[in-house]
Amino acid sequence: MKIGIFDSGLGGLSVWKELDKLLPDVPMVYVADSGRCPYGPKSQEEIVRYSREITDFLLEEGCSLLVVACNTATAAAISILRTEYDLPFVGMEPAIKPAAQASSSGVIGILATEGTFRGNHFHQTRAAYATDTNVLLQVGEGLVEFVESGELSGPKVKDCLQSYLHPMLEAGADQVVLGCSHYPFLKPVMESIVGEKATIIDPAPAVARQAKRLWDRIPGTASEGMRTFFTSGKVEQLEAFLQTIDPASSHSVKSFSGYDSSHQYGS
Ligand code: DGL
Repeated sequence: MKIGIFDSGLGGLSVWKELDKLLPDVPMVYVADSGRCPYGPKSQEEIVRYSREITDFLLEEGCSLLVVACNTATAAAISILRTEYDLPFVGMEPAIKPAAQASSSGVIGILATEGTFRGNHFHQTRAAYATDTNVLLQVGEGLVEFVESGELSGPKVKDCLQSYLHPMLEAGADQVVLGCSHYPFLKPVMESIVGEKATIIDPAPAVARQAKRLWDRIPGTASEGMRTFFTSGKVEQLEAFLQTIDPASSHSVKSFSGYDSSHQYGS
């Protein structure tokens, strides 16, 4: 019995980190599809195909609960996966509701990929919880690439984030939602930009709590908390990133192969 987690790349590790704190003894398998990252500009059809491939793989690995730790894949594929596979899926929720409720100015900013903004779920959530709120949408172009390359701070990252956050602050946003699981790794730089003017909302802890709730309902006992990480990109890239975010533990990193690599990043 294991929990499977996947993302277009390293971003879902922001959810894995939270889940690891809540369920330290549960075996988990993580798939980073870094070889085909980013998903944001890809068509729904492609993202569904990739998500199916990874789901099949995680089932073969013995997972009985899957966390789609990617807002873009959640938007494009989770409802399809739920109809096709007989196991529970947890997806990324756009944290519009808590942001709208917490806002005093009535203005909130959402940073996400274009794929997430295209999805129905985002628009439904907005219509359900933020009709009286001015919701500013911003595609975080380039941010996924910074995280994938391990560049989590520095002048280039700060300049890019400033260009997205300053207009939100000027428009009065007092809440900024991280609508992509890669972005929490840039939160310290974002906080240095927004200061006291806005709160940055990272949905990863809430997603991890929801995954724990579902996991606790599945009968059976977990063995040791073995962690295995697979990547369709470079093994060294994932190893180096894990070393940065979780230096204390040792990790088993393997190659995720046998998938359609014709859309590989950079090819
Ligand atoms: N982590 C993915 C998300 O949450 C990144 C999207 C991408 O690959 O473009 O949306």
